[in-house]
Amino acid sequence: MIRAAIVGGSGYGASELLRLSVTHPELSIVRVASRKLAGKPVASVHRFLYQVLDLAFEPADPRKTGDGVDLVFVALPHGAAGPFVAELLAIHPDIRVIDLSGDFRLADPETHRSCYDESPAFPELRATFAYGLPELFRDEVKKSRRIANPGCFATGSLLALAPLAERGLLNGPVAVDGKTGSSGSGAEPGPKTHHPERTSLLAAYSPLSHRHVPEIEQALSRKGGRPRLSFVPHSTPLVRGVYTTAYATNEKGIGAAEALEIYRARYAGERFVRVLDGPPDAGVVAGSNFADVWVTASRDHVIAFSAIDNLVKGMAGQAIQNANLLFGLDESLGLAAPGSRP
Ligand SMILES: NC(=O)c1ccc[n+]([C@@H]2O[C@H](COP(=O)([O-])OP(=O)(O)OC[C@H]3O[C@@H](n4cnc5c(N)ncnc54)[C@H](OP(=O)(O)O)[C@@H]3O)[C@@H](O)[C@H]2O)c1
Repeated sequence: MIRAAIVGGSGYGASELLRLSVTHPELSIVRVASRKLAGKPVASVHRFLYQVLDLAFEPADPRKTGDGVDLVFVALPHGAAGPFVAELLAIHPDIRVIDLSGDFRLADPETHRSCYDESPAFPELRATFAYGLPELFRDEVKKSRRIANPGCFATGSLLALAPLAERGLLNGPVAVDGKTGSSGSGAEPGPKTHHPERTSLLAAYSPLSHRHVPEIEQALSRKGGRPRLSFVPHSTPLVRGVYTTAYATNEKGIGAAEALEIYRARYAGERFVRVLDGPPDAGVVAGSNFADVWVTASRDHVIAFSAIDNLVKGMAGQAIQNANLLFGLDESLGLAAPGSRP
């Protein structure tokens, strides 16, 4: 049995890790740390755990979080996660860590500094983290003890575009349209997540300047692509979901059937990536660790689609998938449930 702790206990990352771990036969969450809720029952905040999990929040102290556990899930905002991880690893250098934030995703410290100015670069520590997108970097994840769990937009874009990069078909301009639900902003209410505002909000934000762009380019270039990415995220009234539509230049004039065959071959055998016969639907994957993808081609563009649940394949589910790999378990343990509709 893997004994694990979670920090950032009141947030959505923690709540999804707890929800998914309930059905995981080999993962036991024994500690949930919180800055402000120490002593309170975990189920008083994550109410779906009432009479399911009998645990109280503990203080968020990096000197104590690692005691007696094999793994720590760090579900803190960027800027808070890095220093916490550094302190934790100074005391427990061999403990497994899965960091959900952006603090260790970018390999180059300078790129990190330019994207996350409030977060220290930790250049030596950063080099010890593997980028945890199992479908692209499974062997590195298996060999590592420290995982930088990908961003939700990055996961959606990478699963949509990696098959093209690997075939040498991604060397030019790519326009990516990402759409997200309100839970992508975390549990703290804000003007753009407050229900009366969000329920009718459909708007672009941070056009061409989202922090996930260097993360997407870094992974695609490691897969053989040289894309020039223009990324525009959009807020939608959904709660869960990241929907990606990526318009890549059709450099070699491939047809729709050929493009689809490339994706089918690439993801054959991948438990969590399903290649569909038509555009995916974010509602269908909500609550699940599945990424549904599809691709088609016009004369000028290869257009790739993906739909994920940002809180599951885009965060906590992928973190558990990575944990399974770190401990040599079946990758799908705790993650078998499909989404639901309605
Ligand atoms: N939401 C998503 O869709 C998503 C997807 C992929 C990755 N991520 C990343 O995963 C991480 C967790 O996301 P989330 O959605 O769980 O965020 P969240 O709901 O805002 O939760 C983060 C938790 O961290 C703690 N915290 C907040 N500010 C802090 C600070 N300054 N110092 C120390 N602790 C602080 C709080 O818990 P306590 O007060 O209880 O300690 C808070 O509830 C973030 O880095 C986020 O960017 C999120």
